[in-house]
Amino acid sequence: MKQHLFVANWKMNKSFAQAIDFCMTHHDALQQLGSKPHTQLVLCPSFPVLFSLSELLQDTMVHVGAQQCSPHKPGAYTGQVSAQSLRDVGCTYCIIGHSEQRAQGITHHDVAQQAARLFEQEIMPIICIGEHKEEYIQQRTFQILAEQLEPIMSLLAHKQFVIAYEPVWAIGTGLVPENAYLQSIVTWLEKQLQSSGPRTAYRILYGGSVDEKNVGKMRSLDGIDGFLIGSTSLDFQKLKKIVSLGT
Ligand code: PGA
Repeated sequence: MKQHLFVANWKMNKSFAQAIDFCMTHHDALQQLGSKPHTQLVLCPSFPVLFSLSELLQDTMVHVGAQQCSPHKPGAYTGQVSAQSLRDVGCTYCIIGHSEQRAQGITHHDVAQQAARLFEQEIMPIICIGEHKEEYIQQRTFQILAEQLEPIMSLLAHKQFVIAYEPVWAIGTGLVPENAYLQSIVTWLEKQLQSSGPRTAYRILYGGSVDEKNVGKMRSLDGIDGFLIGSTSLDFQKLKKIVSLGT
């Protein structure tokens, strides 16, 4: 049976105190969720909480991930956080290239550099790619995804990584793609990534308006290895439902 990966992207929603409270209140349930066979759960809070959360969850199999990292090696970069620091505070995953980051000016090249820094620290990158609504309407999705992947492709050979397909038009909108469309993306991605290594070296996630009601349908798709979950993951009971469905 294949393993499913569930990544909770809390964005800037939970404060330090709220993130700690979430993990303390649901510690035992998180422990159970984290030790479910064929399931891996990653919580991605904002930077200041990472260390406390990895300490709090160290007796669980729940992983802690960051939402971005600096593309640079340590040095004079005011305000940035290095992959090395992320590793020191217990991160084993890091989201990069999220559309909300790209909208702030992070380029495809920056995302490739972020992946390079994460590989150096043996942190698993979760590389987000996805098209905007107009690009989707103009049927330019594959072109856009290819452009986003282009600078990163040469780094992926013989590495373990996660690709999260997140159409921008689905994020926070309540819309999700049809299974047939999602399947066409997965098939295309598998072809693009053929040269990087075996299919077992990488996982493909779907993200964008995933909730406890629509996840079952998408879970039935063969090539989808898990989900990147935004707003629904803020509610423990809903997150639990998503992770528990079908396992
Ligand atoms: P959403 O966010 O689940 O709230 O749509 C997903 C994401 O942005 O990663």
